[in-house]
Amino acid sequence: MQGFKEKGRVNTQDTAAIAVETAIRYNTDIVAASNTGYTIDALLEEKKKQKYTGTIIHVTHAQGFVKKDENELSEEKRQELLEQGVKVVTSGHALSGTERGISSVFKGAYPVEIMAHTLRMFGAGVKVCVECALMAADNGAVSVSRPVVCVGGTGGGADTVCVITPSYSAKVFELKINEIVCKPLLIEG
Ligand SMILES: Cc1cc2nc3c(=O)[nH]c(=O)nc-3n(C[C@H](O)[C@H](O)[C@H](O)COP(=O)(O)O)c2cc1C
Repeated sequence: MQGFKEKGRVNTQDTAAIAVETAIRYNTDIVAASNTGYTIDALLEEKKKQKYTGTIIHVTHAQGFVKKDENELSEEKRQELLEQGVKVVTSGHALSGTERGISSVFKGAYPVEIMAHTLRMFGAGVKVCVECALMAADNGAVSVSRPVVCVGGTGGGADTVCVITPSYSAKVFELKINEIVCKPLLIEG
């Protein structure tokens, strides 16, 4: 595994290069988290550079995540990415969603959010990779029968690549993390 000294956006281009190399190695598609399309642009640049022919599946934040009736991915950018062959998935977050609606009213600890926090022990990006694989599968954008390359980050951009065999959120424990290819080392100081 390649370990990054820092977490976050600074690793986006390196992470995109590793994601595409890994997708070529596994002969598979890429599922990537992106709020605005910034990470997807980095992946499209690498796709061209490495002559990668697979599909990029872009998982956005849920509608209304920041502002009611809005999405951080502008309509204009969504259209631009669709025209470049990117599949775009916008849906409820598989590792918070309805449960966050409950915890924000009743307070307390609930199982799905505990799962999310446990996955964050590997770094936020690993949790995001798992969540996006579930969301892509629930939306029919990927098969649950073969591994895909997943890309996540910490707050913005990309810093993590995992190879994951997806599952549907209703069968969450059937999801398998096959390989963690790169992530921040999370060593403080
Ligand atoms: C569904 C979803 C869930 C996310 N959850 C988290 C999270 O729990 N922690 C975190 O640091 N980033 C989270 N992110 C942010 C991503 O890891 C990534 O950094 C971001 O989507 C990249 O956006 P950009 O391409 O616009 O920079 C999430 C993104 C998406 C789409």
